[in-house]
Amino acid sequence: MIDIRSDTVTKPTEAMRQAMAQAEVGDDVYGDDPTVNRLEEIAAGKVGKEAALFVPTGTFGNQLALFTWCQRGTEVILGEECHIVQHEAGAPAFIAGVQTRCVPDSDGIINPDEICKRLRWQDLHSPATSLVCLENAHSSGKAVSLADMKAVSSLAGEWKIPVHLDGARIFNAAAALGCSAKDIAANADSVMFCLSKGLCSPAGSLLAGTRDFIDAARLKRKVMGGGMRQTGFLAAAGIIALEDHSPLLTADHKRAKKLALALSAIKGISIDVDSVEINLVFFKSAASCPESSKKAVSGFRERGIIINPPENGVYRFVTHYWIGDKELEQIINACEEVFNNLQLSPLPEA
Ligand SMILES: Cc1ncc(COP(=O)(O)O)c(C=O)c1O
Repeated sequence: MIDIRSDTVTKPTEAMRQAMAQAEVGDDVYGDDPTVNRLEEIAAGKVGKEAALFVPTGTFGNQLALFTWCQRGTEVILGEECHIVQHEAGAPAFIAGVQTRCVPDSDGIINPDEICKRLRWQDLHSPATSLVCLENAHSSGKAVSLADMKAVSSLAGEWKIPVHLDGARIFNAAAALGCSAKDIAANADSVMFCLSKGLCSPAGSLLAGTRDFIDAARLKRKVMGGGMRQTGFLAAAGIIALEDHSPLLTADHKRAKKLALALSAIKGISIDVDSVEINLVFFKSAASCPESSKKAVSGFRERGIIINPPENGVYRFVTHYWIGDKELEQIINACEEVFNNLQLSPLPEA
């Protein structure tokens, strides 16, 4: 089956499987796993930070950043559409015990004035602002420019408030912006990025920052139950992900653009081709009532393709390492057949 629900579905390559089988490992809680230590060193270098820490997931890494930076009862300013707010199950309240203060974010771009209006200090009535978060690439599939990031990080710097970057897809953003991940991460005090998305690793993310920050985060990671033992098996795949797979993301982006163009030619599909900057393709179909969506999902499945149903009427198709030219052609053909069929006999809106 061809799976375009997400880039998280990517399975490890043969090279990763071999590296995992042969990995030299040790107890990472004692700091004894040489493969984890190497991954952390490479990871820190890629984002231009002093140190990095291997964590199980992107959500874990984001929440660990909040838990490390923020005192309980303080407030974190972040975009209303960001992953931390939308898709992390309310974890800031559970783990760090902080309040999230949302600002409008247009595809990840936050107007510094909106942050300025919300900065506050502890007094009898208000919580202190303890952190600002950015996200790049944004979940909407857009890469946020370095200038837009800088506008926020400069403001936060003036007020001595740290900035955490959710860079789950930082290497996609770097490829889209034509810069390095280091350039992007330079606008944040800590950065989380994932190995398990477009980089093809089976699991794991990194949190990077100054050595002092990472030492503090290592303690909090233990508190969160994230002190894993022989994780060198996963780190071995992660090293290949970082070294070999980040340059391959441009190919995923080109295929996403090609898919977007093909979709734009199908009657009843509404898509902004120019907005496709990374490997995420968002679009609407004229026939998007629940019954039509079900038909679309099963129509694709009959053609050997797994898709997610639309969320609020919006479909998201994701290209990744295992979607080559042959698979892309099959996807485009299926789009034409499935969506044209649906448009010919749309079901009444529910
Ligand atoms: C922008 C962003 N941040 C964080 C995450 C969380 O990563 P994980 O699924 O590994 O927890 C995701 C996952 O898709 C994401 O897209």
